[in-house]
Amino acid sequence: MDKVFKEGKYKITPMNVSHINEVAQIEQVSFPTPWSKEAYYNELKDNGFAHYYVCLACEQVVGYAGMWIIIDEAHITNIAVHPDFRGQKIAQTLLLKLMQEAMRLGAERITLEVRSSNRVAQYVYGKLGFYPVGIRKGYYTDTKEDAIIMWKNLYES
Ligand SMILES: CC(C)(COP(=O)(O)OP(=O)(O)OC[C@H]1O[C@@H](n2cnc3c(N)ncnc32)[C@H](O)[C@@H]1OP(=O)(O)O)[C@@H](O)C(=O)NCCC(=O)NCCS
Repeated sequence: MDKVFKEGKYKITPMNVSHINEVAQIEQVSFPTPWSKEAYYNELKDNGFAHYYVCLACEQVVGYAGMWIIIDEAHITNIAVHPDFRGQKIAQTLLLKLMQEAMRLGAERITLEVRSSNRVAQYVYGKLGFYPVGIRKGYYTDTKEDAIIMWKNLYES
């Protein structure tokens, strides 16, 4: 993947409860309605469908991503990168990790929702082969914004 990953500056590893405080800090600066620490704790401890990963730089969490896998479909729930670390392909590397894990665990397709205003995220998903299939009107209750639904067949490039 990217040079910085090849150089070993960052590493991707499964999220555990010790990462939650730093994840929650990135949530706060990344989303209008951030998930709580408790929500992440429940995902890690109680949700057997959930798979979450963090990107670490010198053991500090700089990004994270997660998904639910239900039978043959993976649904990305969240992805964010600390503002100081954006633009270094951390999100793309996390997404590739999710896609690899989804395939390993039997998923054939992967989907997500993205705010219609979130051009950077849409660009990143498009680069990795996700394509828009529809719109959920007013899906985001905080801003009443529409969600674009994107899909990718994991066995097509
Ligand atoms: C969307 C997000 C996860 C992308 O993370 P990232 O690590 O910066 O993404 P990457 O570096 O892998 O890719 C970003 C791409 O967009 C481009 N880009 C354009 N504008 C950019 C901007 N303002 N900031 C960062 N990258 C930008 C980069 O050049 C890069 O393209 P390239 O690979 O062709 O050079 C990050 O911006 C973020 O956390 N946003 C807030 C949370 C969010 O919106 N999550 C998605 C919810 S659906």
